Amino acid sequence: MNLKYILAIESSCDDCAVAILDTRGKILSDQIYSQIELYSQFGGIVPEIASRLHLEKIAFLIKKTINDSNIKLSEINLVAVTDQPGLIGSLLIGVQFAKGFSQGLQIPLIKINHIEGHLFAGYGELDFPTTAFIGLIASGGHSSIYYCNSNDEIELLGQTRDDAAGEALDKIGRLLGFNYPAGIEIDRCAQFGNPYRFHFPIAFKSEDSLEFSFSGLKTAAKDMIEQNRTRFNNQDIADFCASLQFIISKTLLTKAKLACEKYNTKTLVIGGGVAANSRLRLDVKQLTEMGFSVYIPPKLQCTDNASMIGRAAIRRLDKSKI
Ligand SMILES: Nc1ncnc2c1ncn2[C@@H]1O[C@H](COP(=O)(O)OP(=O)(O)OP(=O)(O)O)[C@@H](O)[C@H]1O
Ligand SMILES: [Mg+2]
Repeated sequence: MNLKYILAIESSCDDCAVAILDTRGKILSDQIYSQIELYSQFGGIVPEIASRLHLEKIAFLIKKTINDSNIKLSEINLVAVTDQPGLIGSLLIGVQFAKGFSQGLQIPLIKINHIEGHLFAGYGELDFPTTAFIGLIASGGHSSIYYCNSNDEIELLGQTRDDAAGEALDKIGRLLGFNYPAGIEIDRCAQFGNPYRFHFPIAFKSEDSLEFSFSGLKTAAKDMIEQNRTRFNNQDIADFCASLQFIISKTLLTKAKLACEKYNTKTLVIGGGVAANSRLRLDVKQLTEMGFSVYIPPKLQCTDNASMIGRAAIRRLDKSKI
């Protein structure tokens, strides 16, 4: 295929995102209409509202993204869209729009799994692995470890038995009075805190398992907050946040390292919203010092966005050429 530009659409959850990329994954324009503010009052996403807002915004957003990229509509010759997993009503809006676009312009459509998007969010940027790797996805809905072989066949090795890491941060953050999603606010607050002050449990700590569980951590955090609610001052909250993200980062990276050892690779790709966390990004250095090659996309490409969907599509095309 003589590819020029790609239109990528991501509408699996609460963000309506559209991007235009060139064939090497360079982002020409990347727009997100976030519904987050609206959901602060509910403490989480309301699926029915999410799908209606996608429908309301998507046409305008696509028009704006194409205008901002300074390319002509006729130069787009591929559409990539998230088709799973996610909220069914929200996915439907992106997929139907992409299908219409593809049929109207007589150009191909590639459907991308949202997790594949997170894994390849950094494809086309410096240092992205070309060989088999272990993938760690930590987001609002997932805490999972994958093996991606050199043909890009992705196998799930382990996942959380209950809450995802981001979900746990959001729920604990809510108890602390932070807005949804709380991960980024916990990160901000943790900058001034002592990560060694509060002690949280780690599930499957000494086991050979590649599974996670964050519900014990959530309960422990809830108990600590309830016991200290009236006594917690700003420094206490900062210490609490720092300790919390310290343990989450440690848990995620310990299991990712174990997966690398089991699958005999020292290459690790990390993605999903929690990969934007400062503590995790700092702790990754310990792995690189041990000889691991660790790839984490820039912070903006960790949370949901459309360019990751475009990049996963480019990766598929590049692989099919080999
Ligand atoms: N700097 C940060 N530190 C920690 N967590 C963060 C940070 N930034 C975002 N998050 C968390 O990332 C999550 C959102 O990530 P993302 O957009 O990838 O998830 P999602 O789309 O909701 O879930 P999924 O990708 O599993 O469907 C939220 O739980 C949010 O709190
Ligand atoms: Mg996501």
